[in-house]
Amino acid sequence: MRSRVLLLFLFLRPCFSEFTVVTSDSSNLVDSPQTGFSSRARTDPNEQRAVYEIMAATGNTWAASIPDVCRGRWHGIECMPDSDDVYHVVSLSFGALSDDTAFPTCDDAPHGGATLSPAVLRLPHLRSLFFYRCLTANPQPIPAFLGRLGSTLRSLVLRDNGHVGPIPPELSNLTLLRVLDLHGNRLGYSIPSSFSSLINLQLLDLSGNQLGGAVPELSSPSLSVLDLNHNLLHCRIPSSLSNCESLLKIDLSRNRFIGSIPDSLKSLQNLILLDLSHNSLSGSLPCSSKNGYISLQSLILSGNPMISATIPEDCFAGMKKLNTLILSGMGLEGPIPESMSELQNLRVLHLDENKLNGSIPDSFKGLDKLSELRLEDNRLVGRIPFEKEMMWRMGKKLKVSNNSGLCFEMGNGGDEGLESMAGISYCDPETMWRVGEENSGRVGTKHLSAWMGGGWRNSVVSRSSAEIRASGVLQICFLLVLFFIFLVV
Ligand SMILES: *[C@@H]1O[C@H](CO)[C@@H](O)[C@H](O)[C@H]1NC(C)=O
Ligand SMILES: *[C@@H]1O[C@H](CO)[C@@H](O)[C@H](O)[C@H]1NC(C)=O
Ligand SMILES: *[C@@H]1O[C@H](CO)[C@@H](O)[C@H](O)[C@H]1NC(C)=O
Repeated sequence: MRSRVLLLFLFLRPCFSEFTVVTSDSSNLVDSPQTGFSSRARTDPNEQRAVYEIMAATGNTWAASIPDVCRGRWHGIECMPDSDDVYHVVSLSFGALSDDTAFPTCDDAPHGGATLSPAVLRLPHLRSLFFYRCLTANPQPIPAFLGRLGSTLRSLVLRDNGHVGPIPPELSNLTLLRVLDLHGNRLGYSIPSSFSSLINLQLLDLSGNQLGGAVPELSSPSLSVLDLNHNLLHCRIPSSLSNCESLLKIDLSRNRFIGSIPDSLKSLQNLILLDLSHNSLSGSLPCSSKNGYISLQSLILSGNPMISATIPEDCFAGMKKLNTLILSGMGLEGPIPESMSELQNLRVLHLDENKLNGSIPDSFKGLDKLSELRLEDNRLVGRIPFEKEMMWRMGKKLKVSNNSGLCFEMGNGGDEGLESMAGISYCDPETMWRVGEENSGRVGTKHLSAWMGGGWRNSVVSRSSAEIRASGVLQICFLLVLFFIFLVV
């Protein structure tokens, strides 16, 4: 109820304010800045009626009392004039996007649930349709009739609406679409292969659904964001993705992709993020040759059982901009390549839960930006090469436990380091001896966890309490002596 009142307030603002100007490239709408309704300006009456119907279907029946939907800046309704000063609806938005962007509500239709009305087809200039967290009380398929908006629609966002069923193949008639976002619904079946005809797409987000099957051949030269994470997609990753030369972000994580990572992806010159984690990919790591993956900043491959499991020495040589490299739980074997220390922008490196052996390259000391390093659950041996400053920088984000052969040099980390070192042996046998605990079995080493946890602190505590007790006894003796002297005197 309160939100209804709030919306009414928002809608009943002064009626002569400016129009929201939408960039136009459709010939019959005027694109000059709009300073307001001139006296002869009017809104197309058919479109006005259509808006009333669409509003009523989403539970906003009160909207029928708006005298002119294009007059005044109604939240969620954008209009543009044509050369005859007739205003047309170009954009409709529903749902509470954020606290300060309250589009009309869309989930409380009085009789039965809210729906997306076919009256949208009577808006011949509609470029953008946006429904966010709408219709959830009445889960329904995405209406196929939306495919008939092909001559104008540029952006279709149906996000977190609880849509069920398949993605209607009719949507591939929307060839002007730049943005298609169907994230967070319960869409099943597969992605229509006819989506290859969406040649103007810039963003395709179908993440968070239950889509199976293969990724269709996508061919939009302007596609920059492809997000299909958290679905049930299988088959191989199509190597034709490399035809979408503008790709900045590819997220195919949490699916069931098999096969190897197509080599062709390395030619994507603009690619910043590649997340293929938690699939069933095999084969070798996607290494760059000198000119591969040149813009890549984040490479996330954790949770894939690669077959060729060693990390080639120069695998990342071309990825000069890499700042996040996540290779956890991939069954990787052999040593950590020394050359990884050439990745000077590296901030986050996860190599945990593998079978890496050998030692941590000494040159890792030079990774000046590294703030998070996970090496736990491997077979690493030798000294942890980091100096105090680096240990301090990483703090608890340095994880090295469960590498029985790693050891730690006292004095390097201070207290900060000690905490993350739990479970790691201590390198210097002499100091070890001074700690005076039972030997862990490895010559000259001792488990710090025991050292930090029970043993050492307890022994300090008990020693000091023994001292306290001893000094107490002394004090009593001293008092007794005084007392006797007093008696004698
Ligand atoms: C829209 O798509 C459907 C199915 O993909 C197709 O049969 C139909 O001819 C298309 N309509 C138009 C107007 O292009
Ligand atoms: C490290 O692992 C590889 C592959 O598992 C093995 O061939 C090699 O001998 C191991 N090296 C050491 C020093 O244990
Ligand atoms: C130690 O790491 C190995 C993987 O390298 C893992 O299988 C094992 O469960 C880990 N042990 C503990 C106690 O976490």
